[in-house]
Amino acid sequence: MNIRPNNILSVLLLLMLLSLQSFAQQKSFEARVDSILSLMTLEEKAGQLNQLSSGLGMGPVIGQDDLAAQKKLVREGKVGSLFNAIGAGLTGELQKVAVEESRLKIPLIFGQDVIHGFKTIFPIPLAEASSWDLKAVELSAKIAAKEASASGLHWTFAPMVDIARDPRWGRIAEGSGEDTYLGSLMAAARVKGFQGDLKNTSNILACTKHYAAYGGAEAGRDYNTVDMTERTLRGVYLPPYKATVDAGVRSFMCSFNELDGIPSSANKWLLDDVLRNEWKFDGMIVSDWNSVGELVTHGVASDLSEAAVLALNAGVDMDMESRAYIGNIVQLVKDGKLSVAVVDEAVKRILRMKFEYGLFDDPYRNCDKNREKTDVLSKENKDAALDVARKSVVLLKNENHLLPLKKDLKKIALIGPLANNYTDMLGSWTCMGDSSNVVPLLEGIKNKVNASTEIIYTKGCEIKGTDKEGFKEAIDVANKSDVVILALGESGWMSGEAESRSSLDLPGVQEDLAKEIFKTGKPVVVVLMNGRPLSIGWIAENIPAVVEGWFLGIQAGNALADVLFGDYNPGGKLPATFPRTVGQVPIHYNHKNTGRPANDLVKWNSKYNDLPIGPLYPFGYGLSYTTFEYSKPVLSSGKIKADEKLKVTIEVKNTGNYDGEEVVQLYIRDLVASVTRPVKELKGFSKIFLKKGESKSVEFQLGKDELSFYDKNMKWTVEPGKFKVFVGTNSEDVQEADFEVVE
Ligand code: BGC
Repeated sequence: MNIRPNNILSVLLLLMLLSLQSFAQQKSFEARVDSILSLMTLEEKAGQLNQLSSGLGMGPVIGQDDLAAQKKLVREGKVGSLFNAIGAGLTGELQKVAVEESRLKIPLIFGQDVIHGFKTIFPIPLAEASSWDLKAVELSAKIAAKEASASGLHWTFAPMVDIARDPRWGRIAEGSGEDTYLGSLMAAARVKGFQGDLKNTSNILACTKHYAAYGGAEAGRDYNTVDMTERTLRGVYLPPYKATVDAGVRSFMCSFNELDGIPSSANKWLLDDVLRNEWKFDGMIVSDWNSVGELVTHGVASDLSEAAVLALNAGVDMDMESRAYIGNIVQLVKDGKLSVAVVDEAVKRILRMKFEYGLFDDPYRNCDKNREKTDVLSKENKDAALDVARKSVVLLKNENHLLPLKKDLKKIALIGPLANNYTDMLGSWTCMGDSSNVVPLLEGIKNKVNASTEIIYTKGCEIKGTDKEGFKEAIDVANKSDVVILALGESGWMSGEAESRSSLDLPGVQEDLAKEIFKTGKPVVVVLMNGRPLSIGWIAENIPAVVEGWFLGIQAGNALADVLFGDYNPGGKLPATFPRTVGQVPIHYNHKNTGRPANDLVKWNSKYNDLPIGPLYPFGYGLSYTTFEYSKPVLSSGKIKADEKLKVTIEVKNTGNYDGEEVVQLYIRDLVASVTRPVKELKGFSKIFLKKGESKSVEFQLGKDELSFYDKNMKWTVEPGKFKVFVGTNSEDVQEADFEVVE
């Protein structure tokens, strides 16, 4: 475009008009919110703050009577939001009661845990994070939003952005792993995907959870106590939450856990001081399921009434399921124990969100039964699910190029409890996923190989349990084949909420099965399916090829077959460290150096006396069928000032026999600072595609954002001094260079 002064003027005018328009819209929301508020009784205000699970539309959870009971509550204005009510028809029916039969006709807002797909189930979030592909992850959330909104929903309780350094914690499956930088970018991508432009009927409101530091649970036990310094909290755990605020998320969910003795649902510092005042979050906050009620169990409130006061004063606007607000607010205000201004503020935030989502203008915006049929499980959606699923696969080992397999092998033995498994491919939080839409590994392989190839499948054993009866047949089948594919792992629901494990080994007798199959001397490929890093030391040492397949959703079998038979060259990288044994946990790449860093040659240092130093597979690790060669990083200067930028350039060459993708990773280390700094911190990555033989130069910028940290006085700052920069294929295998920040 030819930009002339006239054009510039028109653009400026247009921009001014747009911002005036949005200002005017905001003003008019505010006026409308205030006017509704002025009409509300205290009972109705308490009702707006009440969120109930309906269990309707989720299968045979609650019958007609309960629908009638729920409608009665809606009619009486005693509920502001429902979740687990799904379907254009059902939500429309309930909405009708709200907007036609309740006194003030305030629309309901329908929420749901749409975590990794609605009907088209995508890989679990931890798997998607392994793709390091922000666009693909954004698209996954966008499609989930499209399908969910077509079924009447307005709001998802996602993304979960909790940093998890402990794979015993089952909810590691729901997030993006251990790293703050990767986690922050993934978090923002998901918010953009879900929310996009909220006027568009294909988008839904997002909800960042679980604020805060829920993943820091002691001993990896879900819901357990979290205790950490403010420096670790701010430096490691909080940035992904903040990233979602910057991405425009409209709601937050507070977490179950306590932090420094204060449960999040009563933590004014977290909710008000940090989230609202420091970060300028202007959306609403919902509690987690019964987390207001649990203030009593935590021992900071003696009853639900006290719990309600604590939570409301801390800034929790909506009470999910504990009924502490609806049951107590009126009396509390009458008794002078709760200020009506606090209640009003909470109501306003909820009404505002309903306005922003357009529910006052069109309460039935997502109740189109035709859309409900056409917008789900479309070819386009399934193709996107396949794309992310392939990108999420991590190749852990590939000795002597055993993979990719040839499509014209005579006989393939497919063994294992996850080899022909439908349900578990959906992972945890299956939403409306239906296992009949899943392509299991067996089917994926059948679709892939030549017609003449025989695939002999046997289960071998169950995921859990001690029964080895199937071993004999599995060994027979293996003996008859050219190659064995062994699909092992966890069940889909062994990770996720309330699914902590004290062991990270393969459950049941699966490792024994692997040992027996290995003894046959046949080439063996292990395909893992699991919701957390596992301690798979024996497999890593003995089995020649190992593929991490997580739970890849409905396209699991197709994606894995594409990888196994070379139609897709894997490029996924681990978003969380694989420990050698559970005893190393919590283990993460960005640990501190200590005064006595691990060293095999000396006794008196920080290591275990019964384990080699380091993890089994480090953060950022993942192989490809091709190989990449990295040059030394070239820096634009050896010295920069704190407010200057440093350019880091590196040449990457595809030196192998396949075209392929590589995630080029950049880490830094601040060598001397006023507080100790991690030995490495991810500060940039770039996913590139290189044709066989091709080279590319990759450029990164380092500046204030990347080099700052919380100093001795908890000030976010860059300190002058020496730094290292590392660039490489994972957090361990890197090339380094030095630079200095000068005054
Ligand atoms: C979980 C949340 C979830 C909520 C509603 C809670 O138990 O912790 O992640 O959004 O239930 O289903």
